[in-house]
Amino acid sequence: MAAISQQRVKICLVLLCLVSASAYSTSSSTTSSGTLSISLLNPLFYAIKCPQALDTIKKLVMNALANDPRMGASLLRLHFHDCFVQGCDASVLLADTGTFRGEQSALPNVNSLRGFEVVEKIKYALEHECPGVVSCADILAVAARDSVVALGGPGWPVSLGRRDSTTASFSGANTDLPSPFLNLDGLIAAFQKKLFTANEMVALSGAHTIGRARCLLFRSRIYNETDIDSTYANQMRTYCPKAGGDSNLSPIDITTKDVFDGAYYTNLINKKGLFHSDQQLFSGGSTATQVKSYSTFPSLFKFDFANAMLKMSNLSPLTGTQGQIRKVCSRVN
Ligand code: HEM
Repeated sequence: MAAISQQRVKICLVLLCLVSASAYSTSSSTTSSGTLSISLLNPLFYAIKCPQALDTIKKLVMNALANDPRMGASLLRLHFHDCFVQGCDASVLLADTGTFRGEQSALPNVNSLRGFEVVEKIKYALEHECPGVVSCADILAVAARDSVVALGGPGWPVSLGRRDSTTASFSGANTDLPSPFLNLDGLIAAFQKKLFTANEMVALSGAHTIGRARCLLFRSRIYNETDIDSTYANQMRTYCPKAGGDSNLSPIDITTKDVFDGAYYTNLINKKGLFHSDQQLFSGGSTATQVKSYSTFPSLFKFDFANAMLKMSNLSPLTGTQGQIRKVCSRVN
């Protein structure tokens, strides 16, 4: 009797998976540099093989944030830097070895990315609970969402079933991750390469409502640029001297540094964008109206951000028998 009802539960869950998979599936589109293929992923992927996976990830993310609120920003960025190179395949987590050069030593990542040990801790717990089931790529996608929610941002339904790469791309990380020195055209082009519209780029940039940045990446802005509030520039100069202190940190959103809100956009309107690239979104170009809307209606920003994150988290996943489920996220099995 018990076996029959267990079987019925399993069938129901499988049906639910199929229904939800079709609800989230869209037509796949491909270019030379990006594939959006979400039909093979679905939010209930682990419902049978590792039903507690999502709870475990959330619990360990919450623990990490309780010790260090910045960790939420770092986990969100890890997911972005994963997806924008080879797709969301955890390639960013592969550590360099004597014979392997991965993405971590690429310019946008080196001495910058954080959160690896949190991801590894989650992986360790999940390998204990359900060995060989939950991918590192899915851990990144869920941890990013849970981080945003924990800091006051929106949630989104993370589809699951990504598998982990056995490769990484040092050159891809150098070419495909946007630089903070880009102008608006360059930003639009960098996101277009991954099939994102300018609107989605503006929404995703709102991630800079949390987190910290190193002095060397905004020094030229606070000392040389003119479309910057002078009081703000002086304030930032206390964090970042003209010479030296390259690794000094400053909040990216000076007003509410660990809260996921719309303040980033209000800062841009007030000429208080930290990076050159941030301020480019409100410098008389085509994206200025959107920045104003997000500043006035933060809930609109959150809605668009959630949708754009959902799209980002579905960039070129490995599925089925592609790749592997790594046992340890920093190295291939
Ligand atoms: C629009 C183009 C973007 C550029 C040019 C850019 C650039 C940067 C730079 C230079 C930093 C500081 C790194 C350091 O100090 O070492 C940073 C931090 C950060 N970025 Fe972006 N980023 C962009 C888009 C995004 C997107 C799309 C997301 C996520 C969806 C994101 C999330 C973050 C977060 C959360 C931090 C803070 C990380 C921490 O405190 O550990 N960024 N970004």
